[in-house]
Amino acid sequence: MPKTMEEMIAHLKSQGFVFQGSEIYGGLANSWDYGPLGAEVKNKLKAQWWNYFVKKNALNVGLDSSIILNPKVWKASGHIDGFNDPLIDCKKCNSRWRADKIIEEFNQEINAGTMSNQEMEDFIKINNISCAKCGACDYTAIRQFALMFKTNQGVLEDESSTVYLRPETAQGIFINFKNAQRSLRKKLPFGIGQIGKSFRNEITPGNFIFRTREFEQMELEFFFNPSDETDWFNYWLTNVENFLNNVIEIKSENYRVRNHDKEELAHYSSQTSDIEFKFPFGWGELWGVAHRGDFDLNAHQTASGQDMTYLDPETNSKILPNVIEPSVGVERMMLAIFWQAFEEEKIDENNSRIVMRLPKNLVPYQVAVMPLQKQLSEQAKELFNNLLEDFDATYDETGNVGKRYRRQDAIGTPFVITYDFDSLEDKSVTIRDRDTMAQERIKLNEVKQYLFDKYN
Ligand code: GAP
Repeated sequence: MPKTMEEMIAHLKSQGFVFQGSEIYGGLANSWDYGPLGAEVKNKLKAQWWNYFVKKNALNVGLDSSIILNPKVWKASGHIDGFNDPLIDCKKCNSRWRADKIIEEFNQEINAGTMSNQEMEDFIKINNISCAKCGACDYTAIRQFALMFKTNQGVLEDESSTVYLRPETAQGIFINFKNAQRSLRKKLPFGIGQIGKSFRNEITPGNFIFRTREFEQMELEFFFNPSDETDWFNYWLTNVENFLNNVIEIKSENYRVRNHDKEELAHYSSQTSDIEFKFPFGWGELWGVAHRGDFDLNAHQTASGQDMTYLDPETNSKILPNVIEPSVGVERMMLAIFWQAFEEEKIDENNSRIVMRLPKNLVPYQVAVMPLQKQLSEQAKELFNNLLEDFDATYDETGNVGKRYRRQDAIGTPFVITYDFDSLEDKSVTIRDRDTMAQERIKLNEVKQYLFDKYN
């Protein structure tokens, strides 16, 4: 059945996945909190990424760097001077817009990122692009709006104490490249992965959790000798697709790979591919894979005066490694996962159900246990407590069985076990499958093995 993002947002809220941030105070624009079930999905998603890109890939190691870094890091990386968006104000209603975005919304064929400010202003005027809020077409000139959040460290509140919340986790990795390499005696090629919060004072956040001002990134910086002939870019692009397809089960018809043209490339990149997902509002960037060359290590070497090179033990020569960076936002990936999973399914003429077809490795609960009637709760609780030792389990004894099945469908629980009166005699229970709704009878002493097999 057709679905809308509004329906999904309402569902995620009612079921305890995502809440409006600061809701009791009227909210804080575009901030979202993850409820009990959303936090479970988020933690599992991060664990899957960490497992795939850090723990199970022998080339890579992990890191957890600070959010607040020495401001010189952001000067060297180019963020202080160049991490800006083109901002225009509507002169009539004072609403603020990103000039490049309103052009791209007007004509989806255009990549406004390659236009100068003058070209953007002319384009908006010639095409009479009106303000989405009041309909006027009278804007201020474009000015650059810095995206990094500023704050002060320590008691003084002046220029000397200005620090920034990191807008990406990547720079924490670059400045620790030598620490990680030397302490673990890593040889090129190797990567450093990190998961953590990033902050950007976006002019136009929105589309639910797609673009927010506070978000988490999962980034890998993969360092290699520039003379290495392995195609590391495609190696990581293939791994990203493999993760999407086989680990978190994103269907191939729901995403596509788009290579950046030369004009679109960021200043640090010689090659970039975006994995775009078919979001409810259209195709949008989910995951970027960029060839960053030696831009960052070189910039930090020049700015800090520290030697950022790698000493090749075979040739004894100093090398400034090149870098491939796959970078993805946790929440953006959650949106893709939720959207793909959310389904209203017609069961028969009169009945339908909402089912979250989440992949089994991301569900809040792997199994639910319920007694058919409250008289059986002691036996059902014993089974539940036993399963809790090995599985993420939940227990539900309120409402009729049909309603309880629907509740578990609505939060994506793949298996529901019912303890009924026959169970007392035949020492068996009924297991219901979320996706097929098929039920089978299993011996109580085989339930754990049944679930182990399903989850392996
Ligand atoms: N280190 C490279 C980097 O940060 P980016 O394309 O600016 O590159 C990487 O960001 C990923 O982070 C994006 O593909 C997206 O998934 C996520 N992301 C970026 N800005 C975001 C925002 N404001 N809200 C949510 N996710 C965001």
